[in-house]
Amino acid sequence: QKLQLNLEQIEKGGYPHFMLKEIYEQPLAIKDTYRGRLLADEGIIKMAGIEDNMKRFLNADRIIIVACGTSWHAGLVAEYIFEDLARIPVEVEYASEFRYRNPVITEKDVVISISQSGETADTLAAIKLAKSKGAFVFGVCNVVGSSIARETDAGAYTHAGPEIGVASTKAFTTQITVLTLIALRLARAKGTMSSSDYRRHLHELELIPEKVAEALKADKHIQAISKLYKDSRNMLYLGRGYNFPVALEGALKLKEISYIHAEGYPAAEMKHGPIALIDENMPVIIIATKKGHYEKVVSNIQEIKARKGKIIGIVTEGDVSVRELADHVIEVPETLENLSPLLTTIPLQLLSYHIAVMLGKNVDQPRNLAKSVTVE
Ligand code: G6P
Repeated sequence: QKLQLNLEQIEKGGYPHFMLKEIYEQPLAIKDTYRGRLLADEGIIKMAGIEDNMKRFLNADRIIIVACGTSWHAGLVAEYIFEDLARIPVEVEYASEFRYRNPVITEKDVVISISQSGETADTLAAIKLAKSKGAFVFGVCNVVGSSIARETDAGAYTHAGPEIGVASTKAFTTQITVLTLIALRLARAKGTMSSSDYRRHLHELELIPEKVAEALKADKHIQAISKLYKDSRNMLYLGRGYNFPVALEGALKLKEISYIHAEGYPAAEMKHGPIALIDENMPVIIIATKKGHYEKVVSNIQEIKARKGKIIGIVTEGDVSVRELADHVIEVPETLENLSPLLTTIPLQLLSYHIAVMLGKNVDQPRNLAKSVTVE
């Protein structure tokens, strides 16, 4: 048993938990994801699964994304990116709902399934259904040779390396990375982006690993904030645009490992319900980066403040306005709006991690949850 314990310690590479190790692996994992695919200086994105099937993508009336859990959140981020950059209509579906809904699927549809494990039963069934209707199915998986990787017509691996912690972290950011590469490649093929904008995106994407490393430096500060809020009963996560799915993912991370009730909402929807919950006992984590609806988010923050909610702002380095209003701010480096989820996710992962550790929860194996759900 002693030997086994030591082995596990070695696997954790000096980190107390797999989750923390995997959070810290993200700069490298993202680099591994785009290695050999992103040639920023040449202005090229190389992905065999896309090149070989370019016609299917270009003729598609729409893309349907199917996934579960955190992978579904990555799908939501992808919806914003695909529509914004490549101008392809996207629908994002929970695999479990899609498969039982008698959905309209045609041979002109492209279905992208996203799955870390490649074994999620609902996602697998959704793929089989889509295939039976003649759709082209493209898989974004982490586990090589997994059932979903084998069942799909083509695909792209995330190359994040093994993810052991049940709460998904590096799988999420690498899924977004792959999906961003695909969106950019399709945008180029469709001519929906100017070449200067396209090139700017490629160069910015290349800088993401070092910016993630920069965002990780807020760890101690986030730990201190976690201490203040670990005993909260509820938390609200808000974001707009590209950062709305990040708010959902932040809330999911907290629920999964700390068992604190949390909800993610589009910031503007706050007034249609969640605002009723806000008082001095309600911490609100709000993503308020410079690019993307900044003024509107600042006015949301003012509304929260007027109701005495505690505000933790995720802001761009050097931010002034939110700092004046919020109880705490956590900075992330500046980047393009559509790449911002890769950075804003980091502090939310760390916040839930520290809170769960302080509450003495089993971070890597939270109760009732499984790493991959192979039954429905
Ligand atoms: C489980 C895991 C989640 C994961 C979801 C989908 O619920 O605990 O972390 O996001 O399944 O898994 P997949 O392997 O398909 O991405």
